[in-house]
Amino acid sequence: MATAHLAYVLLFLVTAGLLFRLRRLLPAPANPTAAHCPHPNPVLGNTVEFIRNRRRFFDWYAMLLRDSPPGPACPADVEHLLRGSFGNYVRGPGFRVAMSELIGDGLFAADGRLWKLQRKVASHAFSSRALRRFSDDVLAVHLRRRLIPFLDAAAASGDAVDLQDALRRFAFDAICHVAFGVEAEASTAAADTRKREALFAAFDAAVEISFRRALTPPTVVRKVTRLLNVGASRRLRDAVDVFDDYAMSVVESKESQSRMRREEDGDPDLLSRFMAAMDDDDDDGEQLGAMFPTPQAKRRLLRDVVVGFVLAGKDTTSSALTWLFWLLAANPRCERRVRDELDGDAKGMQQHYLHAAIAESMRLYPPVPFNGRVAVADDVLPCGAAVRAGWFANYSAYAMGRMEKIWGENCLDFSPERWLRDRGDGEFVGVEAARYPVFHLGPRVCLGKEMAYVQMKTVAAAVLRRFSVEVMAPAADMGSPPAYEMTATMKMKGGLWVRLRKRE
Ligand code: HEM
Repeated sequence: MATAHLAYVLLFLVTAGLLFRLRRLLPAPANPTAAHCPHPNPVLGNTVEFIRNRRRFFDWYAMLLRDSPPGPACPADVEHLLRGSFGNYVRGPGFRVAMSELIGDGLFAADGRLWKLQRKVASHAFSSRALRRFSDDVLAVHLRRRLIPFLDAAAASGDAVDLQDALRRFAFDAICHVAFGVEAEASTAAADTRKREALFAAFDAAVEISFRRALTPPTVVRKVTRLLNVGASRRLRDAVDVFDDYAMSVVESKESQSRMRREEDGDPDLLSRFMAAMDDDDDDGEQLGAMFPTPQAKRRLLRDVVVGFVLAGKDTTSSALTWLFWLLAANPRCERRVRDELDGDAKGMQQHYLHAAIAESMRLYPPVPFNGRVAVADDVLPCGAAVRAGWFANYSAYAMGRMEKIWGENCLDFSPERWLRDRGDGEFVGVEAARYPVFHLGPRVCLGKEMAYVQMKTVAAAVLRRFSVEVMAPAADMGSPPAYEMTATMKMKGGLWVRLRKRE
């Protein structure tokens, strides 16, 4: 299954020199939705097809899985990989090395005991009290101060704006607030705005370079550029310096606050929570602290933890919302139902149709479309595929969301009703995570899922209540879906250009 295809991908990487030349001779498909069937070559495997489909990799991958026997993208395999045989499938050293400058030893890159201890400390940050604080303080403040005024101005001018960009900036501010406890009041000052812009750009650059590295084996060129500090290595180091300076200055200023003060705060930000846990006698925090015994090492870990969280929250919710707005524009009947629900529900979060529309939008366009692990020992997956120690074992939420045998004949339609009881009129009903692994599952399931839903519903409701959204580009037509960027998260290529009109 996935591993076999990934082996072809790796084959491509090994023969990169030859194929670089070949690439010039093989233009990408003119029609981005046209399928290219694999005709595996005994030497090159699917390499040529890989190159032809490189700009629509997730669709190509979905097609390969659909056509491969036995049990492609089978939910039982995903369950086995991420829960049943959790100990046998790890992040792996390759991912850790590629991501080391970005997230170091933080939760997202860690395996084993280091991961477990961090996960326990972090999980306290997602209590229901923390969620309430998130929606009452963080979201409300950033909506009122930044997003809504920006959209109001766009509506008043009549100019088209890139909604994806606005949503990404909003998500970045919100997650920085949660991770570092950055005060919203300070963020309107010109100096803070400049700092925020620099941070935003640095994060983008560092994520792009690190993920590219995670997908390709380390080359001599990379080692040399790193040594000489030129090219992408230089850009990565410069970007990392920007947020290192920022994270370290926040860590230092928090260290100078008294412990008493932190306790008075009641519901601390993530950084303060990790700082307190590592200083406390609490078992998990103490063990974690013991793994980073010097003040410098502790600070470094704190920086790694918060940077990882910013990474988790920055592009995921904004990606989901971008596709949601596009899909609603392409399906006016569904948009009308969302608006009717919102107009009839002044305040509450019981918006079942909106919730279903978001879940449905992430089925077709999951913010994390592709994810992988490395096998520690040989294994056989429930649906029959053999896996050898050291192989990649991947799953694609994008491919699974488009499988007829999982979602039925209308799997490519946008139909929020499929998530609602009583033929689409009742409350939201979820499905097993193995069929819909958008938030992962098992011990490493997304900790921010509830928070993400609260954020997505709050933002979507705030925008749709206040504005009518006319999509200018890419055209809102289910027959010609927008292109996406080949990044870690599902970004709409070129952005989502809309014209807003204030509703009465
Ligand atoms: C629509 C929004 C989101 C989606 C689709 C999503 C998806 C995911 C996925 C697929 C993973 C598994 C990563 C892996 O182990 O390979 C994950 C893990 C995680 N996510 Fe999210 N996420 C979202 C939003 C958030 C937000 C807003 C936060 C934080 C505020 C967050 C925090 C986390 C954390 C802490 C983990 C667990 C890491 C671990 O134990 O290794 N996520 N998420």
